[in-house]
Amino acid sequence: MEKKRVLIFGVNGFIGQHLLKHILGKTNWLVIGNDLANNSIRLFLRNPRFEFHRGNIRNEKLIKKLVSKCDVVVPLAGIATPKVYITDPLRVYEIDFEANLFIVRLCAKLKKRIIWPSTSEVYGMSTDTEFHPETSNLVMGPIVKMRWIYAASKQLMDRIIFAYGRDKGLDFTIFRPFNWIGYGQDNIHDTNGNPRVITQFLGNILRGENMRLVDGGSNRRSFTHIDDGIGALIKIIENRKNISSGKIYNIGNPKNNHSIRNLAESILKMAPKYKFFRDRAKNVSIVGITSKKHYGEGYEDILNRTPYIKNTMKDLGWKPKISLAEGLKLTFAGYVEQIQKEKRVS
Ligand code: UGA
Repeated sequence: MEKKRVLIFGVNGFIGQHLLKHILGKTNWLVIGNDLANNSIRLFLRNPRFEFHRGNIRNEKLIKKLVSKCDVVVPLAGIATPKVYITDPLRVYEIDFEANLFIVRLCAKLKKRIIWPSTSEVYGMSTDTEFHPETSNLVMGPIVKMRWIYAASKQLMDRIIFAYGRDKGLDFTIFRPFNWIGYGQDNIHDTNGNPRVITQFLGNILRGENMRLVDGGSNRRSFTHIDDGIGALIKIIENRKNISSGKIYNIGNPKNNHSIRNLAESILKMAPKYKFFRDRAKNVSIVGITSKKHYGEGYEDILNRTPYIKNTMKDLGWKPKISLAEGLKLTFAGYVEQIQKEKRVS
């Protein structure tokens, strides 16, 4: 395997920490990582193939230094939790778009390959049965529906990157994660309703609170375990015969398409098998809540989200394998281990 120097911004985040672990464990690549914190990646700080630089992605001097040192840039620093799209939309725009635009431009200028995390949310409320990166329309609600500021920021960046590719020779791949799930996605102890749905439900059970289905829970998502997602990302970074250069890939598992109600029921049914969740689960019920109450004014949801992945599978020689049930087992197990460690320390 050709030795690469991979720069990961947001290396302490959900995708970042799993990508780092995989690269260090299964490739001979070097990783340069940046984040504000390193609490989730402590195990790797002494690895000779990993170099960590603490700092803000708005620190242009630091960014320039790091980008100059690498071959491939994976800018994962950003806000991806729907609650924050409503409570702090400007911060979402400033980080997800503005701060990252500097990185995109720098990659174009310094001729570095960039692997850009777009999102399944760019398809918005498309009614296509499968969202296709080259033919689906991107359908967003009105401006007063603040939820779309994230999708709109990502969409504009996708367009800018695509244009840099065509007109300035930027070597890029855009990937769109479809509800990647797994251990470490959000803070399970967060009680402000910020975590994404699975961490939210697990946290609810842990605290003996009811699980809340927003607007009835009939909306559907295609849940994709992080290990499947990382498998595709590694192939994109590897980029054999430049196959993924200039491409846009959905990375998701269409077979794991479930309603949120179904997800909640599965999680509650599994909970008695896991230490720390077991005792409280008995008192937990699944209840309804309006989106206005859960997220605040300005929320709007997507009814169904299923990725078209044939091009991703063909180009990358990749296939998602982990079922939702298996993914949930791995996630439960990860949190049991974390809570066990926390109890030992306290
Ligand atoms: C997510 C986030 O925007 C991003 O992480 C990402 O870009 C993208 O989608 C993705 O991962 O593909 P969303 O799917 O709405 O958006 O994220 P969740 O917060 O996990 O919500 C999923 C569904 O569960 C929504 O319909 C939401 O209303 C519902 N929900 C959430 C509940 O019913 N109860 C809860 O307590 C929390």
